[in-house]
Amino acid sequence: MTNPLRVGVAGLGTVGGGVLRLLRDNAEIVAAHAGRPIVVTTVSARDRARDRGLKLEGVHWHDDPVALATDTAVDVVVELIGGSEDPARALVFAALEAGRPMVTANKALLARHGVALAIAAEASGASLGFEAAVAGGIPIIKTLREGLAANRIRRIAGILNGTCNFILTNMRERGREFADVLADAQKLGYAEADPSFDIDGVDAAHKLAILAALAFGRAVEFDAVHIEGIRQVSALDIAFAKELGYRIKLLGIARRTETGVEQRVHPCMVPENSPLARVDGVYNAVVAEGDFVGRVMLEGRGAGAGPTASAVVADLIDVARGRRAPVWGAATDRLSGLPSVPIAAYSGAYYLRLMVLDRAGVIADVAGALRDSGVSLESMLQHGRAPGDAVPIVLVTHETRESQMREAVDRIERLESVLERPSVIRIEHG
Ligand SMILES: NC(=O)c1ccc[n+]([C@@H]2O[C@H](COP(=O)([O-])OP(=O)(O)OC[C@H]3O[C@@H](n4cnc5c(N)ncnc54)[C@H](OP(=O)(O)O)[C@@H]3O)[C@@H](O)[C@H]2O)c1
Repeated sequence: MTNPLRVGVAGLGTVGGGVLRLLRDNAEIVAAHAGRPIVVTTVSARDRARDRGLKLEGVHWHDDPVALATDTAVDVVVELIGGSEDPARALVFAALEAGRPMVTANKALLARHGVALAIAAEASGASLGFEAAVAGGIPIIKTLREGLAANRIRRIAGILNGTCNFILTNMRERGREFADVLADAQKLGYAEADPSFDIDGVDAAHKLAILAALAFGRAVEFDAVHIEGIRQVSALDIAFAKELGYRIKLLGIARRTETGVEQRVHPCMVPENSPLARVDGVYNAVVAEGDFVGRVMLEGRGAGAGPTASAVVADLIDVARGRRAPVWGAATDRLSGLPSVPIAAYSGAYYLRLMVLDRAGVIADVAGALRDSGVSLESMLQHGRAPGDAVPIVLVTHETRESQMREAVDRIERLESVLERPSVIRIEHG
């Protein structure tokens, strides 16, 4: 019989446990696709005594996960600890430097150290698989790096964080405010006790930086991603979105412009009949637009033990077969020098919601502020009248530069009748 592929797994939490279960339950189908059995022989986690519901008899244990990198009884190392710093970072670099194939689900590590990791992999000839790092079970890494490799990609847009999509979907379906729905999501296990990484857009930005590097053949530049989360999205905005024929989604968007690559994560008004608008709950989806292929969309579960393990094991099957692609689709010395475009250079249509005191002249003042900043209006929405009280006014602009919009919002906020900072949401095709 062919020699099994011996796997060392560091991290036995949600994903690590899922990988061990998948390799046990689907051993036969995995072996058929891999051409040989794939067997976990060595593991590492923090707490050896913890009952994980996993059969670990006969499996070697390392207290120090970095020891897996040089353990000669291991053919491939899987890093499922997480975080962009040590021990995950030390383990992945040590394994690559030792020429050991590496598989990881760690988006933070790739977003922060992507180029250095690729250089280490190239120097030793080791492979680095990270299908599980973006959108869990959706095979978007392979799709961009291999399936769409012949295309010039113009744009990618994705729902990249299931927690945010769950919250926004629930706010829309139940007409509830952000804080209430977040509390429910935490009870259901869809949001962490400290949800900031998800709801402030950082997790989606890690994934977007990885996708943008692959799509545009350039070095990962996480620090160039413009990031806004969903804390400011209100039930009122969601209701207005519905009225205007939109849904609010947190999207990660990377777009090739005349001057470089734009990367941004923020809430978007997406036309309700567009494919991304209809991706609800914890689901993720990614749209890629290529010059020859046109538009491609993948949808599926972006997190959880099963979907993530599915992606990790797909990478292990590649290792077993000896299939290997450059980390970022091309050798690091062939990556393009396309610059990052700052958000100030963005241009698009905007939704703007104001809370104003309902009194004579307010609309004229707001229109004046927009005019003075060079912003032109496509439509305006105002319901009922409540003289002397606070009422919402919704404005939709024609295409406007971000810098003009910011100037207009500052002007509007200073108006006496405007009661709070306007809510501003960019309008994006799905
Ligand atoms: N969860 C998902 O749905 C999902 C989806 C896509 C990607 N990912 C990525 O997959 C990775 C793992 O996520 P997860 O959700 O499985 O995390 P998790 O449930 O928190 O598990 C982390 C594991 O790492 C171990 N660990 C932590 N610090 C360690 C240390 N210093 N030394 C040795 N072991 C250590 C923990 O050990 P103990 O068990 O002993 O505490 C635990 O087994 C992360 O990079 C995450 O971003 C997760």
